[in-house]
This record gives sequence, C-alpha cells and structure tokens, in this order.
Amino acid sequence: MCHIGWMEWFVKDFDHPAYFAVYQDKVADAAEEGPALARMLDLPAGSRVLDLPCGWGRLRPYLEAQGLEVIGGDLSALNLARHREEFPGPVARLDLRALPFRAACAEGVLCAYTSFGYFATDAENLAQLQGFARALRPGGVLVLDLVGRKRLQALLKNVVGQWLPYEDYTERVTWSPDGRRIWTERKVHGEDFRHDIWIPTDAEVRDILHRAGFRVERAYAGLTGQPWYPGAGRWIYRAIKR
Ligand SMILES: C[S@@+](CC[C@H](N)C(=O)[O-])C[C@H]1O[C@@H](n2cnc3c(N)ncnc32)[C@H](O)[C@@H]1O
Repeated sequence: MCHIGWMEWFVKDFDHPAYFAVYQDKVADAAEEGPALARMLDLPAGSRVLDLPCGWGRLRPYLEAQGLEVIGGDLSALNLARHREEFPGPVARLDLRALPFRAACAEGVLCAYTSFGYFATDAENLAQLQGFARALRPGGVLVLDLVGRKRLQALLKNVVGQWLPYEDYTERVTWSPDGRRIWTERKVHGEDFRHDIWIPTDAEVRDILHRAGFRVERAYAGLTGQPWYPGAGRWIYRAIKR
C-alpha cells in the first residue's frame, strides 16, 4: 500500500491549470510523438497497452489508430477530467508506485515524456518499474521515453540558476548538489511550483530496468528511431519483460 505524502511535489504541480498553460506545446507535439512511440511499441493490433502516466490522454488517439486497446492511468484528477472530455476511454486514478492492475494483464506499457524519476528514493522509482513489469505478460514491451542527460546538461549549462522569462511564467533550473536531480522552479500567475526529477545516466537506466525485471532490447536517440547515442536529446528504451 502506498501513501501519497502531502509535500510530494508532483501532487500539486500537475494537478493545476497552470500545468496546461506551461505545457500547451505538448498538444501539437502529440502528432509526432504518438505515432513514433506507437511504432516503437511495435505490438499487433488488439494488444492492450497501459498509458502510464497518461496525463490528459494526448497520446491515446495515436495508439488507438494502431488498433491498440488503451487503458490510461494518472494521479491527477484534473488531467483525468480533461482526458475523459477530450479523449474518452478507460482510465484509472492511480499512483505509479502501487498500480491497481492484475498481474500479466497487458502486452505493452507506454511511459512517455520523462514520466520517471519523480520519486525521492531509488526504492520508489524501482517500484514504478516493477509495477510495470508485474502488469506485463512475459515478453511484454515497455517503452520508456526519457530526456537525454548529457544533452540536458549541455543545454542548461549557461542558464543554471537564472530566472528566465517565458510567455506565461518565469523559470529557474538548478541541479541538486549531488548532480543527480533537476530542480525546476516556476512562478506561474503568482503561484510557485517546483519539479524535482532524477535524471539518470544511461547506465543507471539500464541497471534499474534490469533490477525491475526487464531486458533492454533496443534504445533510440529520439522519435525518428535512430540508434541511441549519448548526446541525444531523448533516450527511448524498448525493454522486454523477462
Ligand atoms: C510530464 S506528464 C506526462 C504525461 C503523459 N505521459 C504525456 O506524455 O502527456 C507527467 C504525468 O505524471 C503524472 N504523475 C505524476 N506523479 C504521479 C504519480 N505518483 N502517480 C501517477 N501519476 C503521476 C502527472 O499527473 C502527469 O500527468
């Protein structure tokens, strides 16, 4: 049983209208991300795919267009309400550390757009992946879509610690003192938000996937399906449940 702490940053940050304003570009991005990630799942029509976390469901239509049966899950009631309105289909309110699904109920799990590393401890981040493994049939596929750590480090090099203005908000990014996590503070319409995400190295991703019961079959350097390389902006892992 999992207890959601009041102070956990993701409880508020995503369950707020400000999230939709900050991430409004992701609506249009879905037209590229959805088909590419569905191709990487590479599952036959009729396969059941868990979209975890699903946010407001922007990727669902592209998975369904491949004939996949999609079940979404997310913690944010606000995201799920938008999902029900814009992309009707089965969804569940859940915590990624304690999935409510039957064991071996799905052929695929899609974990898109750096939706991993949110938890404070290795045990909790591992529990997320172990939950994915448990929900998958043996041989089932996880597509884990992460930001590339090296590119992120390079991009942020000259702006770390500075408040930067954007259209609807201001933002300051810093690395945690141990360099493992990225802290993104935002002021949106007078309110404060703070993302706190573990940004693993490639070796750490592979290690935690292995510990959770996966074998990395392939890794990509972004949506085009080019093979993984260290400086890619996006590291996308296709992992098979052992
Ligand atoms: C960056 S968004 C990505 C959503 C979706 N994968 C997409 O590509 O649009 C991260 C999502 O994770 C959800 N989330 C954060 N912490 C969670 C938790 N502990 N359990 C379930 N969902 C969580 C948020 O509510 C948010 O919808």
